[in-house]
Amino acid sequence: MEQIETNTDFAKDVQTGLTSGTKSLSSKYFYDDTGSRIFQDIMRMPEYYLTDCELEIFETQKQHIFESFTESGDEFELIELGAGDGMKTRILLSYLLEKNCDFKYIPIDISEDAVSNLVIDLELKLPELNIIGKVGDYFELLNEKEFNGQTKKILLFLGSNIGNYNYPDTLAFLSKLKEVMNPRDLLFIGFDMKKDSDIILKAYNDPHGHTAAFNLNLLQRINDELDADFILQNFKHREVYDSETGTAKSELISIKNQSVEIKELNLTVSFEEGEAIFMEISQKYDTVMINELAERSGFQVVRNFFDKRLFFMNSLWKLK
Ligand SMILES: C[S@@+](CC[C@H](N)C(=O)[O-])C[C@H]1O[C@@H](n2cnc3c(N)ncnc32)[C@H](O)[C@@H]1O
Repeated sequence: MEQIETNTDFAKDVQTGLTSGTKSLSSKYFYDDTGSRIFQDIMRMPEYYLTDCELEIFETQKQHIFESFTESGDEFELIELGAGDGMKTRILLSYLLEKNCDFKYIPIDISEDAVSNLVIDLELKLPELNIIGKVGDYFELLNEKEFNGQTKKILLFLGSNIGNYNYPDTLAFLSKLKEVMNPRDLLFIGFDMKKDSDIILKAYNDPHGHTAAFNLNLLQRINDELDADFILQNFKHREVYDSETGTAKSELISIKNQSVEIKELNLTVSFEEGEAIFMEISQKYDTVMINELAERSGFQVVRNFFDKRLFFMNSLWKLK
């Protein structure tokens, strides 16, 4: 099997992932504009309890969140990493405006559609909001000079985005954030908590097929961008959850023996019936794990905010 060198990260990562012993695709490529749109459908499903929990936290505890954000009295930049449609954030934004807070909102997302829709919508609904949308990878953007000024930064990383990183990558992610943070800055992270397996599995094995479509969209992206011939109906989505470790895993399963040609990579990949492509983890946490994570990555927990069922936690951190 001859393989050619290509210089895009996407092509390289697809090649590495599909030629490894256990096949995998990196979930960071889920979010083209279509993927981002499908994810918004996922967030609106009743089974995807995470959205309601975080909405509840923001609705019921916005005053405490506001107090924690503004304790020092400084103006600040509220920078949201992977903002998506900002559906939950707008509760906080409205409240901060109501309280005459001196802040600028900077949503960052890799999806151009997500950022432009969010900016248009917020300019209409919250005209007094000072907003600057940024399209691109959050780390590349955070390293730009404009974020290295003296204005206090509050970084938002909502939903359960952090759960999509495995443990070493989570530590690496937090260490990169630390590099761009100053002592007055804050980090506000969403964590999905460990809970009954049935509730977790229902959120991902959804009856509407949105999670399946979200995963299959990455095969479509390979078809479109790397001239491949994946037949999407020949793969099905499967979710498994290990209640001990708190790790939920998304996989695409080949429903038959088949070969797929990826012309841009000059690569033919064979799949056996029942063979899995590992797609993404969704890590669930408990408070011990979260405290340990903060400690190990050089942060200090300032305050935790839970929903009433204790399904979800927003944790506010500062540098240690
Ligand atoms: C799981 S969604 C969460 C959206 C939102 N934070 C929420 O909680 O509803 C992840 C979002 O992050 C964006 N994203 C993923 N990786 C990114 C990256 N490296 N840089 C910027 N945005 C990214 C995606 O486009 C998507 O909108």
